[in-house]
Amino acid sequence: MIAVENLHRHFGGFRAVDGASLKIATGSITGLIGPNGAGKTTLFNVIAGRLKPTSGRVMMAGEDITGLAPHELFHKGLLRTFQIAHEFGSMTVRENLMMVPARQSGETLWNAWFRRKAVAAEERRLRDKADEVLEFLTISHLADEKAANISGGQKKLLELGRTMMVDARIVFLDEVGAGVNRTLLNTIGDAIVRLNQERGYTFCVIEHDMDFIARLCNPVICMAEGKVLAEGTVEDVKNDERVIEAYLGTGLKNKVVGHA
Ligand SMILES: Nc1ncnc2c1ncn2[C@@H]1O[C@H](COP(=O)(O)OP(=O)(O)OP(=O)(O)O)[C@@H](O)[C@H]1O
Ligand SMILES: [Mg+2]
Repeated sequence: MIAVENLHRHFGGFRAVDGASLKIATGSITGLIGPNGAGKTTLFNVIAGRLKPTSGRVMMAGEDITGLAPHELFHKGLLRTFQIAHEFGSMTVRENLMMVPARQSGETLWNAWFRRKAVAAEERRLRDKADEVLEFLTISHLADEKAANISGGQKKLLELGRTMMVDARIVFLDEVGAGVNRTLLNTIGDAIVRLNQERGYTFCVIEHDMDFIARLCNPVICMAEGKVLAEGTVEDVKNDERVIEAYLGTGLKNKVVGHA
């Protein structure tokens, strides 16, 4: 589905992504792990059109998609969620979902809202779709809550829900489980597996929780210092010398420079 070829993204002289190459197979739930600062989010940002690469290519199903804008990628079925959830706090959970198709098409919020108000049939369709998504995620009871008032974990579920408002082909999840309690994490995991099996979504999942990765992902890719270090089953990767060294290495470095 996706092939990343010798991708670089530098910030000044700093090589956040430093010649990364990897493939994400159609139908897989591919895990992306690596110590803090490895370049995982930056890689997502380049693939998903938020950042331009310094060099290298991103291919989707054989087509060069390097540097396309997020809304263009959205139309190709490539979606991502953010490490920090991006909800509209003053709108309800249901309204947040209903906004997704229009927002992602590159329309302004005002136009989207205005148009939505004008077309009742479309509004009904979006509303039904949003309710179906909320039911799938087992959070129907939150439909009328203001998004600002739901928990961090529930916001993560809402992020996942956004990807279900349209026909996604590949979804990039950036730490969808971070700060989420076990029960909610299981709900998120179940939703990912169901979307993969029942709707054919391909996933690429960044996550620090290795139990979560082990349960969902095959293969697992490990990055460090902007490069791909290893790829294989979770067991292969966990036992890979270079991977162990990368985690230990940053542990020590973090202590030396006092980086969190
Ligand atoms: N806009 C930016 N300008 C300068 N440096 C950046 C920028 N974005 C990221 N970096 C740096 O690039 C490196 C990789 O960051 P990135 O966020 O991609 O790591 P990550 O693997 O997602 O880490 P984490 O697991 O902590 O989320 C870090 O050292 C970060 O400080
Ligand atoms: Mg990150």
